Amino acid sequence: MSELLGIYPTWYVPQIGTAWVMGIIGTIHVLASNTSVGAAILFALLETRAVRENKPQIMQYIKKYGMFLLVFSYIWGSVTGPGIWYSVTVASPRGISALIHNFVWVWATEWVFFTVEVIGVYALVYTIGKIDPRTHLKITWTFVVSSVATLVLIIGILSFMMWPGSDRWYLTGSVFDAFYNLNFAAQLADRGFLMLTSAAVVGSIIIAAIPKGDPLRKDVGQTVAKLGLTGLIGGALAFMWYVATLPPNALVILKDRLPHWFGYIDFRITTFIPLAATSLLIGAYLLWVYLKPQALRVPLAVGMVAVLLIAGIWPEERTRESLRKPWVAGQYMYSNQIIGRDVPGLGIQDEVPIIAKDGLLKTAAFVPADLRVITPQNQMQAGRLLAVMACSNCHSINRDGPLRPLPQLLHGTTDVAMIQGFLAGPLAHGSVPYMPKIDLPANEQLALATFLAAVNAGTVDAEGRLIARAPAAAPQHTAVAQAAAGQTTKTKD
Ligand code: HEC
Repeated sequence: MSELLGIYPTWYVPQIGTAWVMGIIGTIHVLASNTSVGAAILFALLETRAVRENKPQIMQYIKKYGMFLLVFSYIWGSVTGPGIWYSVTVASPRGISALIHNFVWVWATEWVFFTVEVIGVYALVYTIGKIDPRTHLKITWTFVVSSVATLVLIIGILSFMMWPGSDRWYLTGSVFDAFYNLNFAAQLADRGFLMLTSAAVVGSIIIAAIPKGDPLRKDVGQTVAKLGLTGLIGGALAFMWYVATLPPNALVILKDRLPHWFGYIDFRITTFIPLAATSLLIGAYLLWVYLKPQALRVPLAVGMVAVLLIAGIWPEERTRESLRKPWVAGQYMYSNQIIGRDVPGLGIQDEVPIIAKDGLLKTAAFVPADLRVITPQNQMQAGRLLAVMACSNCHSINRDGPLRPLPQLLHGTTDVAMIQGFLAGPLAHGSVPYMPKIDLPANEQLALATFLAAVNAGTVDAEGRLIARAPAAAPQHTAVAQAAAGQTTKTKD
């Protein structure tokens, strides 16, 4: 009996894949949570002015925005926050387990601050005008401190996911070495600044809702716009710093693997042209709000929030996730849940050599009993399971999937030997910097290659089911068609 590795069953989401499920939920969550932290800072600045200059009308804006936050950020945040936990737990159980094992007290602390933050926002909204303004200001600052604390603590975890940045953590396994990683300060600065912009764009909806002609529009609108622009400029500078703290594999992806159109300009600029365009658009909008606060209308402001979400946060989050490939956490656990290096500090062992020796089907804990040993009858299903376990975390298996679809990356080849050559060569040697080292025994390579070739040939679908209408048999299809036809008794999974 081979050694069993604690690899959980893979959650396979047809078409979009698990990465997009997490990405969509995460993007909404980032908008909600970032806006809340940025808004806390905005409130504190505005309220300090309201108290100093004795302008109680500013508090009306804070009250409206606070109420909007309760409905917008806190409801959507509370729905998507647990949504992230649920989806990552099934999509990446070992990844989340790795993070919990490193950061359990950091997360516990974060939740304490989060509780204070939630109480803070309620207290802030519902005590406006009912208590002494200076006492209220203290509540607002408490809201700021707790919001920023949640940000700092989460960034320590998120940035460790990118990489620890030195060998120290692997040797010590210490939470501090994990938390204060190379990427931490730069990411904190970048997100911290961009949160101000989120808060300003969302806050412009509330400005648009102030009756036209009210001087409050200008008074508050200019502060909001200035803060948003500061966030945008600071965020752009911090982003350059952030790129300088990325690991080498991320730079390869940044350079070669994200779409860029003008090869002769530095890739840091070209890769981010779409993001830069969004930033310029939002910058122009905020400038316009600054100059013409009376002209602002709700539909435009809502439209800009949609731009921020769809053309700003979504591509930014996707890029950040892509840059981390092939790892999910700390550059020791691959995105496909296999541990890819020793971490002596925590007694963690590289699993790649074990899989190379005994195969993934024999060592992964949750493989159906009838797929542990490959036979001519189950070869197609075994190949499909291997694709799901080893590749689907980063690749759509179907041709029209959105996530780096394998049929496209394999150029639709139906040549089993050629695919196996790729699996036995670059993939098994770990020489592709953005892909895990996936070193499978020859029979598993063959099963996987057979399945991938059959998907390309259109003889089986991504679920491994035979497609009745076989395409006209071009010569190189024959081997695949025969292999597919050999699978008469279909196993259900
Ligand atoms: C950790 C994520 C990850 C996993 C797991 C993964 N890949 Fe990839 N793969 C990538 C990335 C990122 C690219 C680059 C995609 C692009 O260029 O659009 C890529 C590209 C490829 C390419 C294109 C050739 C190349 O060298 O760029 C092939 C073929 C491929 N993968 C096959 C596979 C197969 C087969 C598996 C499973 C055995 C697999 N990959 C598992 C991330 C992964």
